[in-house]
Amino acid sequence: MTLWQGRLGDGMAEAVADLSVSVGFDKELAADDIEGSRAHVRGLGRAGILEKEEVETLLEVLATVGAELAEGRLEFAPGDEDVHTAVERRVTEIAGELGAKLHTGRSRNDQVATDLRLWCRRSLAVLAGDVLALQDVLLGRAREAGDAYLPGYTHLQRAQPVLLAHHLLAHGWALARDVDRLTSTIDRLDVSPLGAGALAGSSLPLDPDFVADQLGFSHRFENSLDAVSDRDFVAEGLFDIALLGVHLSRMGEEIVLWSSDEWGFCTLDDAYATGSSMLPQKKNPDVAELARGKAGRLIGHLTGLLVTLKGLPLAYNRDLQEDKEPLFDSWRQVRAILRALTGLYATLQWHHARMQDAADGPSSAAVDLAELLVARGVPFRQAHALVAGLVRESIERHVPLVELVQAHPDLGDAGAQLLEPGVPVTRRTTPGGAGPVPVAEQMEHFSRRLGVDRARLARCSRAATEES
Ligand code: ARG
Repeated sequence: MTLWQGRLGDGMAEAVADLSVSVGFDKELAADDIEGSRAHVRGLGRAGILEKEEVETLLEVLATVGAELAEGRLEFAPGDEDVHTAVERRVTEIAGELGAKLHTGRSRNDQVATDLRLWCRRSLAVLAGDVLALQDVLLGRAREAGDAYLPGYTHLQRAQPVLLAHHLLAHGWALARDVDRLTSTIDRLDVSPLGAGALAGSSLPLDPDFVADQLGFSHRFENSLDAVSDRDFVAEGLFDIALLGVHLSRMGEEIVLWSSDEWGFCTLDDAYATGSSMLPQKKNPDVAELARGKAGRLIGHLTGLLVTLKGLPLAYNRDLQEDKEPLFDSWRQVRAILRALTGLYATLQWHHARMQDAADGPSSAAVDLAELLVARGVPFRQAHALVAGLVRESIERHVPLVELVQAHPDLGDAGAQLLEPGVPVTRRTTPGGAGPVPVAEQMEHFSRRLGVDRARLARCSRAATEES
């Protein structure tokens, strides 16, 4: 039986049913659908469309159906096109006649938009919590790295030494922007579409403000056409996830490089590495590679949805059903990456000596030499040229740079001291810089930021659970 029984002849073609059925994936919205329906039932009671006892019975039946869905006990029937149909069918099986009143004044168009906003509010908060867990690990590893340093790169060429803690926190700050984006997406999607009906509202005395409040939304829609056709929040969620995926991909790429014999900056814990089916000696960074590889899929899902949306006339169009699979998949995939990368970072072993050797190359203090000259009154451009000339001479004549520096009248001992291992990084003293002094301060700021974000997230999650 279809929901539009009466208007069309019976017997939808099998090909149409196969094409349009969505219950296989939109059952993910089950809990939200029950939540939305419970609010709607209370709204119908308040509008005097349902008697008090009818409201109570329907709320109870909805709770029963919700439990059946949560425990996987609800068997979907062949005619259950989507989760909304399945819930209404099951409510009617249990409540009889009364079930037929459930959908009064509502359309699946405002229903699905409501469900999906509820899902995003809840699930994006869970995801932000996962990001915070990875940030915690990065902070812990940064703290424990102490004064260890490694080359900082530009163009993947050694540039200046930086503290390992500084490098790890660079990823931490990118992730902080992800948490910020996720929470502000949650703030923006805090609008209830329920009551918009199919597209134009209703002749019944429904109160969209009341149901918005019941669902813990701060606002109701202002425009019914917009309410049922807006999927900006899905696109934003997919963008947040895609950019988060890009950050995780860059981290993954770095681990691939750093764990190679060529770099040798870290060794992965066996539990977070993989072997080869043929080459007995291999220890492979598949987790990091999948973090890198899956970013393509996350970007694809965002692109796919934007293309789906771009040509749609107002208001609801069935194309919108295509919003769910990419959203659910991106969310699941990025959570899987986060979980594995968090474990990988928590357990990998750093090789400080190897990093430091790489960072103590003869030229790592080149800019410090130039700045020493600047402090002695030499214009920077001249100082730069002088040091560049010494570096070149050292390479061409195979003379250690330190000897040339020592012998230079404007550099001498003070210059040679700058070439001592570990010295250059200590000279990065400006706020936000890569040396021990600013990094200690940065670590404090980062730790405080995690606390603030955790509190902000707890507020989002409270809003999401208060009604349920
Ligand atoms: N499964 C549909 C979706 O996800 C629900 C809304 C269907 N509405 C309609 N008018 N056919 O978009």
